[in-house]
Amino acid sequence: MKNMVISGSTFPFSLLAFILILGASSAFNKDDFFECLTLQYQKSNSETDSIYTPKNASYSFVLQSAIHNLRSESNSAQKPVVIITPEHESEIQAAVYCSKKLKIQLRVRSGGHDYEGLSYVSETPFVIVDMRNIRSISIDKEKNTAWVQTGATLGELYYTIAKNSKTLAFTAGVCPNVGVGGHFSGGGYSMMSRKHGIAADHIIDAKLIDAHGQIHDRKSMGEDLFWAIRGGGGTSFGIVVAFKVQLTVIPETVTVFNVTRTLEQNATQLVHRWQYVADKIDENLLLRLFLRSINSSGRRTIGAFFTSLYLGRVDDLLPVMQKKFPELGLVKEDCTEMPWIESTLYFAGFQGQSLDVLVNRTEPFPPEASTPFFKGKSDYVKQPIPENGLEGIWEFLNKEDANRAELQFSPYGGRMNDFSESEIPFPHRAGNIFMIHYRVGWNLEENADSGRHMKWIRELYSFMARYVTKSPRAAYFNYRDLDLGMNNNEVKPSYKEASVWGVKYFKNNFKRLVQVKSKVDPTNFYRNEQSVPPVSSW
Ligand SMILES: Cc1cc2nc3c(=O)[nH]c(=O)nc-3n(C[C@H](O)[C@H](O)[C@H](O)COP(=O)(O)OP(=O)(O)OC[C@H]3O[C@@H](n4cnc5c(N)ncnc54)[C@H](O)[C@@H]3O)c2cc1C
Ligand SMILES: *[C@@H]1O[C@H](CO)[C@@H](O)[C@H](O)[C@H]1NC(C)=O
Ligand SMILES: *[C@@H]1O[C@H](CO)[C@@H](O)[C@H](O)[C@H]1NC(C)=O
Ligand SMILES: *[C@@H]1O[C@H](CO)[C@@H](O)[C@H](O)[C@H]1NC(C)=O
Ligand SMILES: *[C@@H]1O[C@H](CO)[C@@H](O)[C@H](O)[C@H]1NC(C)=O
Ligand SMILES: *[C@@H]1O[C@H](CO)[C@@H](O)[C@H](O)[C@H]1NC(C)=O
Repeated sequence: MKNMVISGSTFPFSLLAFILILGASSAFNKDDFFECLTLQYQKSNSETDSIYTPKNASYSFVLQSAIHNLRSESNSAQKPVVIITPEHESEIQAAVYCSKKLKIQLRVRSGGHDYEGLSYVSETPFVIVDMRNIRSISIDKEKNTAWVQTGATLGELYYTIAKNSKTLAFTAGVCPNVGVGGHFSGGGYSMMSRKHGIAADHIIDAKLIDAHGQIHDRKSMGEDLFWAIRGGGGTSFGIVVAFKVQLTVIPETVTVFNVTRTLEQNATQLVHRWQYVADKIDENLLLRLFLRSINSSGRRTIGAFFTSLYLGRVDDLLPVMQKKFPELGLVKEDCTEMPWIESTLYFAGFQGQSLDVLVNRTEPFPPEASTPFFKGKSDYVKQPIPENGLEGIWEFLNKEDANRAELQFSPYGGRMNDFSESEIPFPHRAGNIFMIHYRVGWNLEENADSGRHMKWIRELYSFMARYVTKSPRAAYFNYRDLDLGMNNNEVKPSYKEASVWGVKYFKNNFKRLVQVKSKVDPTNFYRNEQSVPPVSSW
């Protein structure tokens, strides 16, 4: 695999930072950027074959191959003026320099899974720094740490860890193609979060290129900025080149199950009961719940899938379930023991396939393959939803075609409660029973009807208001949702506008994020429709 270094020590970084001297700005011309970049590359002796303009035959492939929500792209008229796929930090610095000089927006893309496509669409002329070739991973087996460059995918990280150890793992999301850059800097919920917290909880160092093009590590960036990029989103503060993370020790054998219950099998009562169990049960057990309207023997019903990971053996799991959730009727035959790495295939829908699928960037995650257009939203729940509330959700699900819409209930509790709300910018801690993820997806043929799906999910979201957190109605930053409010993506956004979504994602931490932003990027160079605004802008 290109650039994948597996070694016992941390990989060397070019610490040679240079200070950019800003040239006078000029009116923007599409060719100017290419010329500026080429010149900067020459100055630092970089090879220039990482620059793509629409004239390059492979421009479209490079652009499209990391677009994971066709809805975002289909809504946007602008295409990037230039895409660069740097292999060295100096090339990123060149892009920062030229983007500043020519006053053209810069978007950073790691895995391209942003729910609103903010890493690859923009209303104003823009360039993309695509991190796909900056993706080495090096594991320190003595300290159980890893330096992970941000262009790596979660699948590559899991694969590399498993090649090194049977008892090490990392707590991050289920989709193997999600990028480290967006995912870690925005949180990173995993099937082990009740035992080990989220990805951002385990970041112990980082390399970041700031708004001046300077490279920092944790020490030189300072604790405020280091705090901000662990859940506050990388984009507002710089370009994260790599994260150093603490890996977690796991048992050699874990147990998975995925039990389905339909309405005829008391799904409503079971989901209701689940809310009293899921955040309190043994933290080695994460009982995630997926809810969809399905066809069962030709009839529409609701399918509740209890998709679960237990960090231990089946014989230890069964008594836990018998004691705390006997209603589900879990039996040994429902369960499968396997090494943790195989559980990552299982939860991604690749069960039984070779581990190589984890490092295949073109293999689509199953929901993306069938419904590449989607809209997602999120909510947090602190009081169990009553049965009639659940029945209201079923009515909504039945209005969409079978399997087109899905709710995920992701349990919190356990380790998630051990962190204070301000430990890192990700504030969703004690008191939350679970997070709801809403998704409705569709394919190209159905895209003419996209307005109907958007209306459906927004109506469901209004219906849910009575059951979820209020003031703020909290949301998960990594499930980015522009319905929550938007900056105008100008240099001077209004603080008032931004605080609408800012407080939902970050609660009181939003204020501190604004302070950090004001200090490190007062001119608001790094920005998008939902980036943290600097004080100087209001
Ligand atoms: C199919 C699917 C499954 C998912 N599963 C989970 C899950 O299990 N758990 C969970 O918590 N989340 C999950 N997510 C959400 C996911 O965590 C976020 O979408 C995440 O931001 C994606 O990161 P990315 O690098 O792939 O995306 P990108 O689109 O590349 O980036 C997302 C944002 O981060 C910025 N960014 C990217 N790289 C950098 C960088 N190096 N420096 C600074 N800023 C950067 C981008 O500019 C953009 O604003 C899932 C998303 C999808 C689509
Ligand atoms: C794109 O085209 C330019 C101009 O012809 C060339 O210099 C550059 O190397 C090409 N990029 C790639 C990645 O081939
Ligand atoms: C559903 O619940 C009822 C009442 O509690 C019970 O009698 C019945 O056996 C349950 N059905 C299933 C399939 O578990
Ligand atoms: C769980 O089962 C449902 C229904 O068969 C299926 O759609 C889903 O993909 C399964 N999930 C996993 C992780 O196997
Ligand atoms: C990666 O996945 C794609 C799509 O399924 C497939 O065509 C390709 O052969 C796979 N590549 C490898 C190296 O397995
Ligand atoms: C569900 O069943 C109905 C009626 O049999 C059928 O028309 C429809 O295509 C099915 N939908 C799916 C997604 O299987």
